[in-house]
Order: sequence, then C-alpha cells, then structure tokens
Amino acid sequence: MPFNPEIEERLTRLQEKYEAMGQDMPAYLDGLLYADFLTYWDYIHLDTLLSLQSPKTPFPDEEIFIIYHQITELYFKLALHECKQIAETKPLSTDFFTTRLKRINNYFEALTQSFGIMVDGMEKEQFLKFRMSLLPASGFQSGQYRLIEIYATDFINLVSKDKREELRSASIENQFEHLYWKSGATELATGKKTLTLKQFEKKYAKTFIELANATTHHNFNALLQQLKYEGQSTIQLEDELRRLDININVNWPLSHYKSAVRYLHREPEEIKATGGTNWQKYLPPRFQKRIFYPSLWTEDQIENWGKAWVEHVLKDL
Ligand code: HEM
Repeated sequence: MPFNPEIEERLTRLQEKYEAMGQDMPAYLDGLLYADFLTYWDYIHLDTLLSLQSPKTPFPDEEIFIIYHQITELYFKLALHECKQIAETKPLSTDFFTTRLKRINNYFEALTQSFGIMVDGMEKEQFLKFRMSLLPASGFQSGQYRLIEIYATDFINLVSKDKREELRSASIENQFEHLYWKSGATELATGKKTLTLKQFEKKYAKTFIELANATTHHNFNALLQQLKYEGQSTIQLEDELRRLDININVNWPLSHYKSAVRYLHREPEEIKATGGTNWQKYLPPRFQKRIFYPSLWTEDQIENWGKAWVEHVLKDL
C-alpha cells in the first residue's frame, strides 16, 4: 500500500530526527507497533488518585474531609504553578503578569465558592468525633498555602502586624521568627510553641526561608513596585492584585472561618482548636490584617480590613 504524501512527509521528518541523534528508526517504529493505546485512567493516574484517601476512623464523613483537603491542595498546586512562572519569567511583561494573576484569582474564587462543602457537607457530631483521631495535624500545616503567600508579597507583610514596623529592615531569618502564623499555634496557657507548629517548622522552615530570600526582588509586590517605577503598571494589573489580596486574605479565610464557627462553636464555651489556641481571636481576617499590597489600598480600607465581612459570618449561621 503506497503512503499518501502526508505520511511520507512525516516519515522523512522522523528519519531526520532519529538520524540526527544516531538512532535506529525501525527499532522505534517497532516500539510504536507494540505500544498500548493511552487510556484516560492511565494518563491521569486515576487509580492512584482514588486510592489516596485513608480515613483514620469508621465515620463516613471523614472521607469528605480528606477529599476536600486534597482538592484544596491541588488548587494550591495550580496557583503555585503560576506563582513560579511569574517570579521566574524574565523580562516580565505587564500582560503576562496580569493574565497569570487572573488564573490564580480564578482558583481561589473556586475554592471560596466550594467551601460550603466543609460548612454544610458533614455532620457536626461525626466531625467532632473523627477530628480527635487526627490530632495534632491541622490545615494550619499546609506548606503550599504559605508558599503562595511568600510568592505574593514582601516577607515583612507576613510578619505579625504589631511587629511589622520594628522589623521592616531586619533579615528574613529574623522576620521569620515573628511571622503572623506563630500566634495561631502558640499555647495560650504557657506561650510555648504547639506540637502542630514545631512539626510544621521542622518540615518547612528551611524551604520558606530559602524561597523568601530568593523572591526578595521577584515576589508580586516587588514586581509591582518595579513595574510602577518603569511606568509599566496598569489599572488591570492593579485590579488583579487587589482581587488577589481580597481572595487570599479576606474571602478564603472567611469561608474557612465559617467552617470553624460551624463545627467548633458551642455555647457556652468554644471547642478547643487543634493547637489549643484561641481560633476565634486568630482566624478572622480583621484581627490578622494580612495585606499583600498596602500601596493599592486607602488608609480607610486598611483600617477596616475584613471588618464588614466578618460581621456577617456569625449572623449567617
Ligand atoms: C471543618 C473544616 C475545618 C475546620 C473546622 C478548620 C479549623 C481550623 C482551625 C481551628 C484552625 C486554627 C489552627 C488550629 O488550631 O488548627 C485552622 C487553620 C487552618 N486551616 Fe482549617 N479547618 C477546616 C478546613 C480546612 C480546609 C479544607 C483547609 C484546606 C487546606 C484548611 C486549611 C487551613 C489553613 C491554611 C489554616 C491556617 C490559617 C491561618 O494561619 O490563618 N482548613 N483550621
């Protein structure tokens, strides 16, 4: 059977490719001849993916809790995929920066919208039982969540708000000791680090400090300042950065906070958080006042950060 010109043209190109590398083309054609056709389930490793849920208790709703955390981590991975490209692309154009920020915003908006799965999707009685088998693990220990924050802003903006001014020109290592999240995992009674925090730092401290040093001039806030300086910043870019600030520092934390209120709020006393911390005082965005791009907000907006949203949460439940 003669080959049609399209196939002949490809065979010639293939031959050139293999010859250039000193390879024997017929041997590779044999390989093609015996190879199986690709299937959907092999391509995305479906069986492996679906085997990654290992509940610690017999409560059926624990599986929902595991899968939703896994879904969130996959979205975080998508966000980091864009963070890396923004930080590493040189020269960085305003268009590329804006387009990739839009992607990250879409991911976070999908997460915020789906958080109802955690708020309404499990039985409180089951949750309160199975969570005791998970101690001292906590979503607090999500390394990817903190990596996204490190890419998103200058490290100083992740320092506890009371220490930001004092440590503005301190080293990354020094600032690291005062990051906002330490207050979310310090024992109320003793002031000591919780086991949740100790384990988290043992695994990730080095990675966080390395990334913070590497992105001093390439985190999104530094890149914004650079583009502004060059007269390349645009309204669209600044809108996407504002959207990111709200998505990561207000809307997602707030939908997450709703789930803590839903499951851990019981009159007359709060149910203890994983680390024995006061989550009511730690989690709300208005108390933490994490802001990635202070130069894009008015003084009034900074002063009232997260307030209007927080006031709705308890009323809605
Ligand atoms: C029923 C659902 C949930 C409840 C009741 C809950 C509760 C809490 C509490 C009380 C904290 C404070 C730290 C601690 O003591 O552990 C926390 C922190 C955290 N959780 Fe959750 N959580 C839930 C779901 C999730 C999910 C699905 C994720 C996704 C990865 C997540 C990620 C985080 C993160 C990143 C923090 C640290 C927040 C910060 O430092 O501001 N949580 N969570």
